[in-house]
Amino acid sequence: MSTSNVRPASMERITTPALAQQFIDEQVKALKAQIGDKKVLLALSGGVDSSVVAALLIKAVGRQLVAVHVNHGLLRKGEPEQVIRVFRDQLNANLVYVDATDRFLDKLAGVADPEQKRKIIGAEFIRVFEEEARKLEGIRFLAQGTIYPDILESGPVKSHHNVGGLPEDLQFELVEPVKLLFKDEVRVVGKELGLPESMVNRQPFPGPGLGVRCTGAITRDRLAALRESDAILREEFEINGLADKVWQYFTIVPDYKSTGVKDDKRSWDWPVIIRAVNTRDAMTATIEEIPYPVLHHITRRIVTEVPGVNRVLYDLTPKPTGTIEWE
Ligand code: XMP
Repeated sequence: MSTSNVRPASMERITTPALAQQFIDEQVKALKAQIGDKKVLLALSGGVDSSVVAALLIKAVGRQLVAVHVNHGLLRKGEPEQVIRVFRDQLNANLVYVDATDRFLDKLAGVADPEQKRKIIGAEFIRVFEEEARKLEGIRFLAQGTIYPDILESGPVKSHHNVGGLPEDLQFELVEPVKLLFKDEVRVVGKELGLPESMVNRQPFPGPGLGVRCTGAITRDRLAALRESDAILREEFEINGLADKVWQYFTIVPDYKSTGVKDDKRSWDWPVIIRAVNTRDAMTATIEEIPYPVLHHITRRIVTEVPGVNRVLYDLTPKPTGTIEWE
């Protein structure tokens, strides 16, 4: 296993299944040598990076990997289920699933400030992970899905699903098998490892999850509307061939209402805002031209299928001036 954080100039870009297989063989050998018969812990978010690290470790050391999937209640529809299906059922992983939804939502109740919300989510995530780590015995290593851009941009530790803030008694030796890879390479490796397409080609999803898209103080009913509308948007983008063309697409449910009319009755409900952007590095972003018929269809589905919603808006603002997320 490479201990250096510098990608050698000679390292070939992993672009083909054969190169991915070669990388996997080398890493599995190195991971076996590093870990031996000890146990290794991983926070498995279900994102590309941690999923690929989990799959590599399962190949190398099987059930010596203890993968902890914390559901903070702010995941997209179907995500925890997919993690359980793929890792526990298909790959026979030693998976600890923690549904911490109530803990997170109770802590977030009434908190409207975006940075405060992020801090609460980050701190609570570490607390839950810590509690799970303490229940386990014989852990020697902590695996992380650090990738090369993380090292280039912000030092060795991932800032988002960051478990670097663990206390002293939980400071394990780090295992970072994809730390010299770029995102596209991680995807090629993930595909070769047999992870599902929807996991490997997943669009970026922020650590605080739906929490920053349910603006202001999060409520369970508005969060449910957000999750349902996001699922409809993703489904329609897949069906209409937009999922591969748009870098990031999601919905937002703001914390205000407007009047509407449904079944001859006046309503007072939330709007759903659609955001669909393209970008190279997330520093700037442009707006995708979504065909009007698709927008009409998505609108119709959202206002009829999602309780508490009476309007759909399309955010046409590039970055700058608007950030990609609304908070
Ligand atoms: P903005 O909103 O700053 O987002 O234009 C740029 C990219 O970063 C993601 N993002 C985050 N990712 N934790 C994350 O892991 C966060 O707190 C966070 N905030 C924004 C956003 O989804 C976009 O891809």
